[in-house]
Parts: sequence; structure tokens; C-alpha cells
Amino acid sequence: MLEVKNLISGYGKSEVIRGISLEVKEGQIVTIIGPNGAGKTTFFRTVFGFLPARQGEILFENEDLTKYAPTVRVQKGIAMVPQGRNVFPFLTVLENLKLGAYTRYDQKTLQEGIDLAYGLFPVLKERKSQQAGTLSGGEQQMLVIARALMSRPKFLMLDEPSLGIAPFLIKEIFRTIKAINEEQKMTIFLVEQNAPVALRVAEWGYVMEGGQIHMSGSAQELLNDDRVKGAYLGKKD
Ligand SMILES: Nc1ncnc2c1ncn2[C@@H]1O[C@H](COP(=O)(O)OP(=O)(O)O)[C@@H](O)[C@H]1O
Ligand SMILES: [Mg+2]
Repeated sequence: MLEVKNLISGYGKSEVIRGISLEVKEGQIVTIIGPNGAGKTTFFRTVFGFLPARQGEILFENEDLTKYAPTVRVQKGIAMVPQGRNVFPFLTVLENLKLGAYTRYDQKTLQEGIDLAYGLFPVLKERKSQQAGTLSGGEQQMLVIARALMSRPKFLMLDEPSLGIAPFLIKEIFRTIKAINEEQKMTIFLVEQNAPVALRVAEWGYVMEGGQIHMSGSAQELLNDDRVKGAYLGKKD
């Protein structure tokens, strides 16, 4: 579904993404794990179009996206939840959700999106009239995921959904990510520093270090790999 070939990008004089090629197959959950500073966010920003590709190709359903603005990529069916769960703090939960539908604003689609969001994350329904800034970190993460789904994507990119969130909410969020994949038939591309959590939910994984892919394999293979265990999973895992 997504095929990236020899991608290079960066900021100013610094080249952060140094020739990445990878693939995300339709229907799967695919993850990129790697340490802080590896370039995961920079890579995602380039795939989504916030940052230009300096070289290489980003093929989505066999069409090269590199010339398109992010809004066009959204119309093609891609949604991204950036790192850092940016809600509009002074708007209510419901108003935040509605803003996610700016590309699809007919009443019926809007209502379906809201129903889906409340079904996936019941707490958002309970808090629909509450200002988003008053939600806990985990609830805000649920809100930004639900907001991204309002554009009805077929391909959902999530940048570090577990970052800074209480462990019990991480579990709930990842259960829901799996449910979105299975029930909505949505392809999910997930970046995580929290490798154990990501590899347990994904089918396929890549290890990124220094702006390059160092390893790839089924999530099960990576979970059992001694190098991955040593670097990312902790000794006893
Ligand atoms: N806006 C920016 N301008 C310049 N350098 C940046 C910017 N954002 C990130 N970087 C640099 O790019 C590298 C990769 O960062 P990032 O993509 O955020 O990694 P990760 O998401 O894997 O932690 C780091 O060296 C970081 O300092
Ligand atoms: Mg990051």
C-alpha cells in the first residue's frame, strides 16, 4: 500500500533521513521502532508531507506522493497523528472531533465519524462537552486518534501514541489500535520508542537508527532477536 524508496530528507544542512526504503502492506499494522533521535518523527513528517523529500519516492497505492501537499495526501486516504497529542485545549471534545472532519463535512459522514469515535473510546462520549485541555494525557491521545479517523482514512499513521501516558491507558489505546485495524480494516503505520508494546500489536517491524533502517522482520522475529532484545526490550523480556 505504501512503498518508500531511497528517501532522503532533513532540516537545513542536516540530513536526518539517509536513504530509507520500506513497505507497508495493506491491512497490516507495521511499526518502526528505534531510539530517541533516530529520525522516526522526521520520517513520518516527510511521508505525510510536512517536510519535503529531498530524494526518493513515496508511493501510496502506486502513486508518487512527493509533489503533493499534506491536504492532498489526506484526500488520498492518509491520516497522521503527530507526536505530542495536540488537542485544541479550549475547545470541547466534540468540537475537536468535528475539526478533524474538515475534508468531509457533510452531516451524515460527520455523525458516523462521531459515533465511531464514541464507540472506540467511550470516555470521549462521557466527556464530549468538556474542554479538551482538561483531559488526562491518555484521554487526549484517544481524542487525537479519534480526530484523525474523522477524515475517514484508509491508512493511519501514529507517531508515539504511548509517549508520556500511564501504563493502563497505553494498554487500552493499543487494544483500540488493534480493533481499528481489525474492525475498520485500516492499515496502520506506527512509530514507537516503546518497542515491546509496538511489536506485540504489529505484524511487521523495522528498526531505525541514525536515519537508516538497520533491521526488519516479522514482529515475532524481532521480539525474539537477541540484538533487539538487548537494545530495546530489556533483559528479561
Ligand atoms: N525541526 C528540526 N530542526 C532541526 N533538526 C531537527 C528538527 N527536528 C528534529 N531534528 C533533529 O533530527 C534528528 C531526528 O529527530 P526526530 O525525527 O525527532 O527523531 P525521533 O522521532 O526518532 O526521536 C535529531 O537529531 C533532531 O535533533
Ligand atoms: Mg519522535
